[in-house]
Parts: sequence; structure tokens; C-alpha cells
Amino acid sequence: MNAIEATLRISPVTGTDLQSLAQLARDIWYLHYPGMITVSQIDYMLEQRYQPEVIAVQIESGEAWWDKLEVQSQLAGFASYEPGSESSSIKLDKLYVHQRFMRRGFGSALLNRVEEQSRSRGYRSLYLQVNKANAPSIAFYRSNGFEVKGSVKVDIGSQFFMDDFVFSKSLSESDA
Ligand SMILES: CC(C)(COP(=O)(O)OP(=O)(O)OC[C@H]1O[C@@H](n2cnc3c(N)ncnc32)[C@H](O)[C@@H]1OP(=O)(O)O)[C@@H](O)C(=O)NCCC(=O)NCCS
Repeated sequence: MNAIEATLRISPVTGTDLQSLAQLARDIWYLHYPGMITVSQIDYMLEQRYQPEVIAVQIESGEAWWDKLEVQSQLAGFASYEPGSESSSIKLDKLYVHQRFMRRGFGSALLNRVEEQSRSRGYRSLYLQVNKANAPSIAFYRSNGFEVKGSVKVDIGSQFFMDDFVFSKSLSESDA
């Protein structure tokens, strides 16, 4: 076990995590996204995606898998992933590490867990969307073996858009 593995725990999100997870998402988003998207869009997307009831429905229905990252028993990040647009692909929908814990390998550890889980479920590729202005996260995905495949502009309602790159990575052992 290396130094990073010794301090972290990654496990499935449960009902008792939902309030603190929603608060963690708010903290991360208000620190990270101003300047990339408006505060109104941040409010709108948090409301749309991070209400505890919304997450609970996704977990209970099996629509998406959610994992949490704890560092020395403190909630520090999370990931969610779901069946993708093709039967062999999986979509990494969310990957977040709180600013206090960044650049210590925790995001990569969370991503590795998502990749392991995806492989064990038989998926052969992982893809994601990332805001075109989100340069730090783009650097993170590139350093973890993702390549850009295209771009999308998604209308998410209320006159808000997500202007994203699409990145993907093969999960085949031979390509790893
Ligand atoms: C993206 C994120 C999950 C990465 O988590 P992390 O724990 O900081 O990442 P790691 O420490 O595992 O970084 C691994 C490598 O990625 C690259 N990287 C990570 N953050 C970077 C940054 N801000 N700038 C440039 N490269 C970066 C580096 O190569 C890094 O290795 P190094 O620290 O040895 O140089 C985290 O920064 C985050 O939550 N960001 C805000 C939210 C977000 O944009 N999420 C993605 C939405 S699509």
C-alpha cells in the first residue's frame, strides 16, 4: 500500500451521505466554476444535479453509480458514472475533489476506482464531458490517458448551455 492509499477510502455513497455530499458539491462548485460559467448557472446546475433527492433516486434506481472519497475520515470528493451512449461505453458524469485536497493524487485514485468498476461491469471505454474553459481539469484528464474526441454544446434549459469537450479513454488492458 502506498502513502496515498493509506490515507484514503473510496466506497459507495449511501443515504446518510447525501446531505454532506450536496454541501461538498456546493463548496467545490462555488470555488471552482466562477469565471467559467455564471453564478446563476452554477445555482441552476447545483439545483438540477445535487439535490439529495435527485442523487437518492439515481442510486436506488441503478441509473448511476456514486462513490465517495474520504481522506482521514473526512469527505473530500466523489464520482458518479452511468451507462453511456453505446452499450460498451460508460460515462463519467462527475469527478470532484475539494480544493483542500487537490494535487495529492486523490482525483487519480478516484478515477482509478471508476475505471476498475467499469471494467468489472464489462465496459470497454470511458468518456466524459468537460467545460472547454476548465483547463486544470483538462490537464488532469490528459495526464490520466484521456484524449479529446470532439465537442458538444448542450442546452440544459433556462437559456443555459454546457460548452464542452468530449474526452475518452479505452479500458482494455492491452491499451492501458
Ligand atoms: C479534476 C480533479 C478531480 C483532479 O483531482 P486531483 O486530486 O487534484 O488530481 P491529481 O492530484 O490526481 O492529479 C494528477 C495529475 O493531473 C494533472 N493535474 C491535476 N490538476 C492539475 C492542474 N490544476 N493543473 C495542471 N495539471 C493538473 C497533473 O499532471 C497531476 O499530477 P501532478 O500533481 O503530479 O503534476 C480536481 O482538480 C477537481 O475536482 N477539480 C474541480 C472540479 C472539476 O473540474 N472536476 C471535473 C469536472 S469534468
